[in-house]
Amino acid sequence: MTNKAIYPGTFDPITRGHSDLVKRATRLFDRVIVALAAKPGKQPVFTLEERLELARTALAEYDNVEICSFDGLLVEFARIKQARVILRGLRAVSDFDYEFQLAGMNRKLAPDVETLFLTPAEQYSNISSSLVREIAALGGDVTPFVHEKIRDELTRKLR
Ligand code: COA
Repeated sequence: MTNKAIYPGTFDPITRGHSDLVKRATRLFDRVIVALAAKPGKQPVFTLEERLELARTALAEYDNVEICSFDGLLVEFARIKQARVILRGLRAVSDFDYEFQLAGMNRKLAPDVETLFLTPAEQYSNISSSLVREIAALGGDVTPFVHEKIRDELTRKLR
């Protein structure tokens, strides 16, 4: 059985922090499935197709990374993909409450699926997609936070 992990999220858009986490995961797992929520709780700025395309751009260098979208329950998608690990990033203590709740609920729904947490490199611990969008919309330079092509897409979309 292949050692697979699913890394779910909205990725609106994918940041260097997310990519850093994927890089770490590719060293631990045979296959990493980056799963974009088709209908997340929040209203994304980028369409699903755009978010997928941006993720493909940012993660092009990894040949053991699959990028796809899912609709419905994450644990069901993990079952379909035969992944026993859900991967999430912990940037700071403030992430913990929400992540602990999410992991607990997912465990109740699917006791055989484990949630694993990785921390991004220190320089990415303050990044969030919504702050990146806000900075880009106000004319700030987001090059340190996102891939150059994503920076250009943000400028095109938000300014
Ligand atoms: N680097 C940079 N930013 C990061 C990060 C990292 N390593 N890790 C998290 N973030 C940021 C994201 O950019 C995002 O910021 P934003 O809110 O400003 O956009 C925030 O942290 C968290 O978002 P994200 O990681 O994209 O996850 P999410 O909370 O949007 O996704 C799902 C949640 C999709 C995983 C969850 O809702 C889900 O599983 N949905 C499917 C339905 C389901 O199964 N529901 C039952 C759950 S029990």
